[in-house]
Amino acid sequence: MLNFYVMSLFCEMIKNALSYSIINRAIKNKIININLIDIRDFSNDKNKRVDDYIYGGGCGMLIKAQPVYDAYKSIKNKVKKDCPVIYLSPQGKIFDQEFAHKLKNESDIILLCGHYEGIDRRAINKIVTHEISIGDYVLTGGEIPAIVLIDCIARLIPGVLGNIDSNKDESFENNLLECDHYTRPEIFMDKKVPDVLLSGNHKKIRLWREKQALIKTFVIRPDLLLKSKKKFMEENKMDMIFSRRSIRKYKNQEISDEQLELLLRAGMSAPSAMNSQNWEFIVIKNREHLIELSKLNPYHQMLKDAALAIVVCGDLNKILGEEYWIQNCSAATQNILTMANNLGLGAVWLGVAPYEDKMQRLINNLALPENIKPLNIISLGVPDEFKNKNDNFDEKKVHYEKFSDDGKI
Ligand SMILES: Cc1cc2nc3c(=O)[nH]c(=O)nc-3n(C[C@H](O)[C@H](O)[C@H](O)COP(=O)(O)O)c2cc1C
Repeated sequence: MLNFYVMSLFCEMIKNALSYSIINRAIKNKIININLIDIRDFSNDKNKRVDDYIYGGGCGMLIKAQPVYDAYKSIKNKVKKDCPVIYLSPQGKIFDQEFAHKLKNESDIILLCGHYEGIDRRAINKIVTHEISIGDYVLTGGEIPAIVLIDCIARLIPGVLGNIDSNKDESFENNLLECDHYTRPEIFMDKKVPDVLLSGNHKKIRLWREKQALIKTFVIRPDLLLKSKKKFMEENKMDMIFSRRSIRKYKNQEISDEQLELLLRAGMSAPSAMNSQNWEFIVIKNREHLIELSKLNPYHQMLKDAALAIVVCGDLNKILGEEYWIQNCSAATQNILTMANNLGLGAVWLGVAPYEDKMQRLINNLALPENIKPLNIISLGVPDEFKNKNDNFDEKKVHYEKFSDDGKI
């Protein structure tokens, strides 16, 4: 259950607004719970006054810090320690669907409604975690914005709407406005429902709706499209890392010269100690040669079916960065693996160094001069297996300032 605690001078307003339809049902079904805290009850003043004149002059009255802070103290021990305390104010960050999704996972949310000219800043600074506005306009108080937040967050909680899928195509869910909808009759004042909606072809209807949503958003809210582009770019950036997996099965298809050049360019764009770039890349394309290499190591069998392989080597004659050749070549290898994934290719890092025997077998096979040492072989091809994304994040492996056994200090 999500508990809302609303601190206000006009609790009745909130109670009344939430006593209808879907939200009222959510309260009755104990999916959300609304606790109303009247700030006036906490006033020290014998007449229960909560407001006063503004220091330095200015019209209007300000709610005093004391009753707000004491009202907060009365609920502090009932809520989770780090629960959001949201002050509804036109100076806040604009509320949006993304933030609503974050808030729906909380167990407690405190909403603070100002009135008149607002609240003494010292109380806000003491208790508030987020200052939120519902739009670029001014209202008489924070009660209506609080109702907006409760409504918007509550409908995202499973069980509040009959069908949680109802949320999927709503405006703003994908930073797109929702397309227009129609109901009976088919013709109203000479205007007919679009034919496609009567066609019964679900795929066509979905595509039509997507297109309409896109056009509508482009015309009315182009800013939303920019927002979704940014989100797409961010997700894709991470995807390049998480979706890289070791791919060991390949289709009988070639890698083009353009793709190969991109892979090598990626390798040579890696960081290197003192920018020494003391790497060399040997490309193996010949099938017999790939089969030969696969026989040098039982763990390198996939080379038999690879479209090509790149042997990443370090040049020990380059004085600069000589001691770092393994690190430099590893960085280049990782760049090649990431680029391969980006190009839709499959790749796996096949270890060779630091094992002398494995290195020597490869040195002999490739006729490497004494100064050129092989680090690994990257086996590459068009993937014939699919692997799920990997996110190995383990917070126990992250230490702050100093090493500690449980990963934190
Ligand atoms: C230094 C090194 C040597 C590796 N050697 C081999 C190898 O000889 N054969 C192989 O099939 N995979 C090899 N791998 C790939 C790892 O097995 C693989 O990265 C690991 O199991 C994690 O799987 P993922 O790459 O799909 O995330 C090597 C990886 C590294 C970093």
